[in-house]
Amino acid sequence: MEPARPSRTALRVALRRAAHQIHDRPLVFEDPIAIPILGTEYLEDLRRTPDPAPGDKQRPFSIGMRAYLVARSRCAEDALAQAVAEGATQYVLLGAGLDTFAHRNPYPGLRVFEVDHPATQAWKRQLLAQSKLPHPPGLTYAPVDFECESLPERLAAAGFDPAQITFFAWLGVVPYLTLEAFRSTIRFIAAQPRGSGVVFDYGQPRRVLPFREQLAHDSLAARVKLAGEPFQLFFTPSEVACELEDFRTIEDLGAYELNPRCFANRTDQRQLRGSAARILTAWL
Ligand SMILES: C[S@@+](CC[C@H](N)C(=O)[O-])C[C@H]1O[C@@H](n2cnc3c(N)ncnc32)[C@H](O)[C@@H]1O
Repeated sequence: MEPARPSRTALRVALRRAAHQIHDRPLVFEDPIAIPILGTEYLEDLRRTPDPAPGDKQRPFSIGMRAYLVARSRCAEDALAQAVAEGATQYVLLGAGLDTFAHRNPYPGLRVFEVDHPATQAWKRQLLAQSKLPHPPGLTYAPVDFECESLPERLAAAGFDPAQITFFAWLGVVPYLTLEAFRSTIRFIAAQPRGSGVVFDYGQPRRVLPFREQLAHDSLAARVKLAGEPFQLFFTPSEVACELEDFRTIEDLGAYELNPRCFANRTDQRQLRGSAARILTAWL
């Protein structure tokens, strides 16, 4: 990421979550704050965020991408519910972007830490202030650049308690990191108490994708590069499993598993496309 600029990809993800609230029924991910957090500043962008008609051959990528992004948030909050039921008292959003969970937190005892690049976090806080959304109880911000700052130190300074069971969500961040930054964050998560867990998504390398998906990969890679946030890190499922040897269980899902889970019994053809993107939950 460019150091002084808020994440453009965080805005794009937030626009798609907001578009889901408007265009898709039934909702896969219900988020009544997804539109308000955008304020008036991005309403025009939201209007321009396409609602592809079923079977629209012009925009198969948009249909699949929105489905993927809302499935990812659904999986994260389902896993969080399981973590809370099993004793988690802290939820850490790594690379939080415009995620609104803290403003919808239904768990009275759950503390939420939003970790993000300082420029993105400052922009989010400005949007929240403009939208007059109140600061929720239990939310603490921890600005961190994963590439050059210490996550443990920044979280400790924010009041994070390493003795508590914690669930981490790391959505839409891993592809933008170096392997070293990924590994140091995983090491930190793996050092948390038993019962803690993490959900993150990752992309498979271009070389293992079918030809049509290689073209989609190239197009997305070019767009995020233009946005100043180039992709850097990909894994195959077996490669990522090797990075997670300290975890007790791993659930690693692709479109084949996520579509029946999130998009069954619909008539609007919303579903994940292709095999590139995967959502992984790991427990200690
Ligand atoms: C695609 S957005 C995803 C945001 C959010 N998790 C969501 O799903 O809506 C990527 C996020 O990663 C954060 N990010 C990327 N590189 C980072 C870094 N080196 N340090 C901290 N955050 C970073 C960006 O600031 C941004 O919030």
